[in-house]
Amino acid sequence: MKDQSEMNLLFEPRSVAIIGASSKPGKIGYSVVRNIKQGGYAGKIYPVNPQGGEILGIKAYPSINDIDDNIDVASITVPAKLTFEAVKQCADKGVKHIQIITSGFSEIGEVELEKKIVDYARSRGSRVLGPNIFGVFSASSNFNSTFSATDIMRGHVAILTQSGALGIAMIGKTAINNMGLSAIVSIGNKADIDEADCLRYIVNQEETKVILMYIEGIKEGERFIETVRAATKIKPVVVIKTGRSKRGAMAAASHTGSLAGADEITDAILKQCGVLRSENLEEGFNWCKFLADAPAPKGPNGVIVTNGGGIGVMATDACEKYGVELYDDQAVLKEIFAPATPDFGSLKNPIDITGGADSAAYDLVLTAPAQSEHMHNTMALYCETATFDSENLAPMIRDTYNKHMATGTPVVYAIVGGESVQKAIDVLSKEKVPVYADPYEAISCMGALYRYHNFNVERDDSVDEAAIDIDAIEKVIDQALADDRGFLLANEGQDVMRAAGIMIPGAAIAKNIDEAVRHAESIGYPVVMKVVSRDILHKSDAGGVALDILNKNEVLDAYEAIMRNCRSYKHDAVIDGIEICEMVKKGTELIVGARKDPQMGPIVMCGLGGIYVEVMKDVTFRAAAINRREAVKMLSEIRSYSLLLGVRGEDQKDIDVVVDTIIKTATIIRKVPRITDIEINPVVVYEKGKGLKAVDVRILVARHGETDAAAAHH
Ligand code: ACO
Repeated sequence: MKDQSEMNLLFEPRSVAIIGASSKPGKIGYSVVRNIKQGGYAGKIYPVNPQGGEILGIKAYPSINDIDDNIDVASITVPAKLTFEAVKQCADKGVKHIQIITSGFSEIGEVELEKKIVDYARSRGSRVLGPNIFGVFSASSNFNSTFSATDIMRGHVAILTQSGALGIAMIGKTAINNMGLSAIVSIGNKADIDEADCLRYIVNQEETKVILMYIEGIKEGERFIETVRAATKIKPVVVIKTGRSKRGAMAAASHTGSLAGADEITDAILKQCGVLRSENLEEGFNWCKFLADAPAPKGPNGVIVTNGGGIGVMATDACEKYGVELYDDQAVLKEIFAPATPDFGSLKNPIDITGGADSAAYDLVLTAPAQSEHMHNTMALYCETATFDSENLAPMIRDTYNKHMATGTPVVYAIVGGESVQKAIDVLSKEKVPVYADPYEAISCMGALYRYHNFNVERDDSVDEAAIDIDAIEKVIDQALADDRGFLLANEGQDVMRAAGIMIPGAAIAKNIDEAVRHAESIGYPVVMKVVSRDILHKSDAGGVALDILNKNEVLDAYEAIMRNCRSYKHDAVIDGIEICEMVKKGTELIVGARKDPQMGPIVMCGLGGIYVEVMKDVTFRAAAINRREAVKMLSEIRSYSLLLGVRGEDQKDIDVVVDTIIKTATIIRKVPRITDIEINPVVVYEKGKGLKAVDVRILVARHGETDAAAAHH
């Protein structure tokens, strides 16, 4: 576990040294000193430059060793080749945090140098931010050690960004978008400090109301998930995660890995953490701005108020898309809105007061929801018309917005029109009134607010763990690894299922023909016979499978036929025996799987199974630390859920036992480090109370708990 105790000093240092400070405008070492000084930082500033002298009127020191003070933060702005020496001196002096702005490390393949720098710093108790970053800004301490803008607009959004360039661009964008920042930090190559470290500090920072994260890749998935999950309990976290394209090259040893691109897994897990994932910067900024000030909704009922039918329909569609519910009680709607709605208007939600509405009518319909106990949010729309004086627009919106804020009712405005409408948007946006030029933009914000609040109302962070016999599973893995295998044989997979208490078809391995008959009779006909051989992966192709064996004579014939076929398929194949299995009755075929994702850590999946699994791709994923409720949610998300509920008069299937199986599979992947992939397909599910059968089990193992995919990735 990394030491978290002093993360606050990265954002609120008592003293800062700039190694590579320069008096030459245009240099990064100059900008950092200028920004720290001009930002109003109250701590001590120590520029370090071999020439000494003064930089921007502050005494400069030839070396950090000449400073007779403790240093909380050192900002490194010397070239890459000088960085190790600079870091070494800082670490030897006991600097708490070393932020390395310099580029030219792992991002261009200089992995060893980066590692050497971090190892040295850590060995002396220093933490490293970066390298390849633009610095840190923290409003609470007036600390701006970035080399970008001098004047960063202050507010309540904290940004954590992996990309430096985009981060700098975002600082610029915050200014034109009137989105004030409480903090911004660039984590660059995250050689040591990562987003989880920063998030743990930022989420408890008083000024911060919303956190915006830009993420390209995740390194320690489990820690990331745990931190983000804890953070969303306290504040909304908006994530822009790039990499939506398919990770085709990911090792496709199992369906669990290949059924979805990495992004579908990321998407599911971010949702599981209560994160609001935005598609793009614009949306992310809109959500952050809105969430920073919006009151928590007191209930689900939304009302759309409009002076135009078309825009009202658009907003209704947007409500469906973003999950905002519309209030439907006609009697109440009529009572409240009739006084301002002409006969040819509409009192059905959306309330259409029509193009003839004047500001008095608007005022009435926009004030009413804020004061009604029946309505919990307002989505106000306006189309420019001849009858409404657009000059009145901004004051009317401002006034009704304040009324909503006074009663703690969330409201968004979408106003559409020409120049005067744009002017109103510009003025009101500066005042942080949530006014947008498109109903979709506005309602997407309202949807984000509801998603966040609903998640927290329903959230349940408990983790259900199944009682599984880990020792027995470890023994099976020892055997496979002793044989130098990265996979388990079918019977070993069944042993793992038994150890986890997952129901499998009756089966036994016969070493000779007499045993084959004995096993078949004790399991009960019909049976299936399959060759057991590490040298034959595709048993059917080798003629190593016989189905629907009904009696002793058929067992005898099949035994000989399988032996003969396999010998001619591969004459030197080592045949460990023939497996006699119960012939499984038909049922609903699911797939349940789990794997150690190289980015996200242990994940679990379930979906429609059988032979169409690749075609249908009807699967869903979660981080493996889940509870039964979440497992039920997984099932209800797949398109084939209705098959489990029973279609056309069928009985409901044994959903409880499927949930058990998901939890058991998740427990295996979390608790057994050397298992990297599990795929149970098909899991044949029967009617309620009749359980299921895990028919085919594939398990991959690795010596160090590292997947083949992860190894390939590195
Ligand atoms: N201790 C202190 N100062 C030193 C030392 C030392 N041991 N050695 C040299 N210096 C001084 C130099 O004399 C110079 O000061 P001067 O202007 O008074 O002469 C200063 O440190 C800087 O050194 P330079 O050699 O002039 O380096 P330069 O400023 O050209 O470049 C930099 C350094 C900016 C760190 C560069 O190597 C770099 O990495 N640039 C990219 C930074 C970046 O983009 N980071 C990612 C941000 S995010 C994004 O993607 C936008």
